[in-house]
Amino acid sequence: MKRLKVAALNGSPRKSGNTSILIRHILDELEHEGIETELVQVGGRMIRGCTDCRSCFENQDRRCVFDDDIVNGCIGKMCDADGIILGSPVYFLDVTSEMKALIDRAGVVARANGGLFRRKVATAAAAVRRSGANHTVDTLLHFMLYSGMAVPGVQVIGIGRDIGDVWKDEEGIARAIEAGKNMAWLLKAIAAAEQAKEAS
Ligand SMILES: Cc1cc2nc3c(=O)[nH]c(=O)nc-3n(C[C@H](O)[C@H](O)[C@H](O)COP(=O)(O)O)c2cc1C
Repeated sequence: MKRLKVAALNGSPRKSGNTSILIRHILDELEHEGIETELVQVGGRMIRGCTDCRSCFENQDRRCVFDDDIVNGCIGKMCDADGIILGSPVYFLDVTSEMKALIDRAGVVARANGGLFRRKVATAAAAVRRSGANHTVDTLLHFMLYSGMAVPGVQVIGIGRDIGDVWKDEEGIARAIEAGKNMAWLLKAIAAAEQAKEAS
């Protein structure tokens, strides 16, 4: 079976914060199943939003015309991966501005190029102090489903405010572990089905 890969994108400016702890638990399960992983830091960087210039529809080169931030790098990593994890802390009941900018620009480039993220296996994770976690996860899921990704059904929400608080949320950590297991299961099931199809 081919070597499977998952790219995780952390929308928190706190590199080692609660979102990254949740993502790490998902990645540990994937690695345990022999799946290669990469964690990309998105939050805390300057990322411009989409300008609706439509250049990506004209150029069709799988890139955003603005090449001065990490978005094209992220698109490349997302395209190369079989699975994608998007994680964000809740900021005013939604994802961080960096994560939203990535969603908008990567989403349009993917659409302009015939659906670059179609059939990737995807999981969303959110860290929250009190309120807005469902809305934040929904933002991530809407992008995933709109882009044609396959989402195994575990909602990963971890509760905490200060860095490391999420460790105390046993249920949140358990959800992240379960999400990793489900993601690995689906990735392997799809790879096995594709292999059987090629062999027949
Ligand atoms: C600008 C900002 C807005 C926030 N908005 C909310 C919010 O709407 N609801 C909430 O429960 N927590 C909110 N928080 C708290 C974070 O979601 C919480 O601290 C989370 O654990 C941070 O995750 P991180 O360590 O991965 O950055 C906010 C924090 C910041 C800095």
